Amino acid sequence: MISQHEDTRLIVRSPEGEYPIVLGRGLLDRVGSLARELALGERVVIATDTTVQPLYAEQVARSLAAESFVPHIAAMRAGEEHKNWASVQGFVDSFIDAQLDRGGWVLALGGGVVGDTAGFAASIYMRGVPLVQVPTTLLAMADSSIGGKVGIDHARGKNLLGAFKQPRLVVADLDTLHTLPSRELACGMAEIVKAGIIGDPDLFDMIESASPEDLELAGALLRAMRVKRDIVERDPHEAGERALLNLGHTFGHAFEHCTGYARPHGYAVAQGMVVACRLAVNLDLCDPSLEARLRSVLEAWNLPTHWAEPDLTSPEALPSVLSAMQTDKKRLNTRPRLILPRAPGNVIITADIPPESIANALEQTR
Ligand SMILES: NC(=O)c1ccc[n+]([C@@H]2O[C@H](COP(=O)([O-])OP(=O)(O)OC[C@H]3O[C@@H](n4cnc5c(N)ncnc54)[C@H](O)[C@@H]3O)[C@@H](O)[C@H]2O)c1
Ligand SMILES: [Zn+2]
Repeated sequence: MISQHEDTRLIVRSPEGEYPIVLGRGLLDRVGSLARELALGERVVIATDTTVQPLYAEQVARSLAAESFVPHIAAMRAGEEHKNWASVQGFVDSFIDAQLDRGGWVLALGGGVVGDTAGFAASIYMRGVPLVQVPTTLLAMADSSIGGKVGIDHARGKNLLGAFKQPRLVVADLDTLHTLPSRELACGMAEIVKAGIIGDPDLFDMIESASPEDLELAGALLRAMRVKRDIVERDPHEAGERALLNLGHTFGHAFEHCTGYARPHGYAVAQGMVVACRLAVNLDLCDPSLEARLRSVLEAWNLPTHWAEPDLTSPEALPSVLSAMQTDKKRLNTRPRLILPRAPGNVIITADIPPESIANALEQTR
């Protein structure tokens, strides 16, 4: 579907205007010329993390310099535990050091942590400077770089501080996935499976019927990008339907929080989807076979499907997970708002689930 020489472009319509997602290979060398198509100032900070910087930052800087941009590189420490104010502050300092004025811009190069943190810094610096997203994880390509949500975690809860900051351009270079550890590739698959369940039953079938080695990853990624694009276009500010993208996330965010963010986001989402599915089965909303199908797809990708493992195995884990769910910002009044599957391509939003049912589903899937 995506050949060596061809890019695929998706256009996303947003309240702040349209922007393209460019998906293909060899794109890091062409970031400069792609950025040239936009009316952007010459000064740019390449905001990345300490893992991605030595891999790709110089390549991106060269591509920008070749188009007469003036790039500066700034790196936050890698890892979800650094998706915080200190990293935002570090990026803002680098914007000032690079003399970025309102004509300058920010290029976020990295996974979802960099995209969210650097994007948030770009959204508040001088009341907002343009942002280009260059995702380098499967998860960031499939999900976090699209749709304009940026933000950081707070000690009391995940993603509690944030903004909407639509990118001007998203450049997803499949070649960057070659250096991605297999665990991170699996984490991206968790969000791609999620996209299938929310809005593309053929995508779910496609993943289910191919082994990880045989799956046409670029094709699956493109389908997931379309699911996300279509939802954020219809509901850019999460007034309604966009909440569907949080399938598995109300539970998942609680697992992340309760492990001090040691648990990868994709793992937490995979585990959260299994709990959501069990809850839906218990409520007669969906056929029990869906839970088995979901587990086997996730396990084929080495994603964990029992939420207590690896690091929430103590007896106190369940009460602390339930309490963390109460701090999840997606809650409405007191009961958490949950996304529950009915079938692949068919999910519902409800804030109507009694706490005992939630506790039961968690107990049954630990
Ligand atoms: N804004 C949104 O709409 C949205 C949606 C989904 C997820 N998210 C957020 O995204 C974050 C998770 O993103 P993630 O899974 O990309 O994690 P991440 O950014 O922490 O990346 C995972 C690890 O891979 C490294 N890495 C990145 N690219 C690499 C490459 N090409 N080669 C080798 N190593 C590489 C990173 O340095 C990091 O250590 C979470 O904070 C989650 O909340 C946001
Ligand atoms: Zn997610």
